[in-house]
Amino acid sequence: PLIMVLNGPNLNLLGTREPAIYGSDTLDDIAGRLEDEALALGVAVDMRQSNHEGHLIDWLHEARADAARAVILNAGAFTHTSIALYDAIKAVELPVIEVHLSNPHAREPFRRRSYIAPVAKGVIAGLGVEGYSLALRAAATL
Ligand code: DQA
Repeated sequence: PLIMVLNGPNLNLLGTREPAIYGSDTLDDIAGRLEDEALALGVAVDMRQSNHEGHLIDWLHEARADAARAVILNAGAFTHTSIALYDAIKAVELPVIEVHLSNPHAREPFRRRSYIAPVAKGVIAGLGVEGYSLALRAAATL
């Protein structure tokens, strides 16, 4: 079973980006950790990052075409703005697990609205990189 892990804008800067909020692990660190865990869970992970909204939408379509079991999505700030991602998630009819390193509800008010949450299977936020691992474990059971 394939699990796609999609990361949105500015997450390529993890490790140096506001480490007090996002931690010191890089996206490569997270990918390495997920690869190890996927092996143990008997699933395959395909982890990607883009700063461009359209790429994330194309990859959601690709996840359906590839019959992915689930998608783990940290859409970054697009979480709070993107009706297009909301539509894409509805369109592909795959279970999407929304993940955030930080807890958006404990931050600026504009982070409280998520366009992903209403169409997500589940949401994990505020637990740092552990959130990705928890999401992977959940995805492997879907
Ligand atoms: C984030 C939270 C978003 O509000 C923010 O725009 C990000 C990262 C997180 O992982 O905590 O870019 O998705």
